[in-house]
Amino acid sequence: MAEGLTPEKIGLDSKKAYKIAERLNVYLADLNLLYLKLHNFHWNVVGMGFYDLHEKTEELYEAVSEKLDRVAERKLMLGFKPTASMKESLKLATIKEAPSKDINSTTIASILINDFSNIVKYLREISDMAAEINDEYTVGILGDDIGFFEKNIWMLSAYNTR
Ligand SMILES: [Fe+2]
Repeated sequence: MAEGLTPEKIGLDSKKAYKIAERLNVYLADLNLLYLKLHNFHWNVVGMGFYDLHEKTEELYEAVSEKLDRVAERKLMLGFKPTASMKESLKLATIKEAPSKDINSTTIASILINDFSNIVKYLREISDMAAEINDEYTVGILGDDIGFFEKNIWMLSAYNTR
């Protein structure tokens, strides 16, 4: 833990803050995998809807990159080190990687809906824990991210009704 930076210093229960920080590492690992997975789909999408998905995945990985940084820096503010290795990320992540091969829009949409749904459920758990110790800033970050994933679940769901 970096000197001077402790959860207590900003009025947070350190045991609970540690548990939240551990869970934020799992979320970070998921964001790391998601970042590459979205590039995979950006590069390998084929068939109907190519243009839309090619563009959409770029918008998504750019947003994920910002989220990664914000979550990692929140951990640092609390005095904890964020996961910053792919090896560690692969061990911790809850989502799975996709193979490097052609993939169509509807398959991409259903994979992402599934990943985003799982992430959203996990974020709600962490957000509840953060709310318990009045860690409003973490709750705010997670609330934004929940909104982002929910909005994209809704948008991507349009692909599965055609
Ligand atoms: Fe590109």
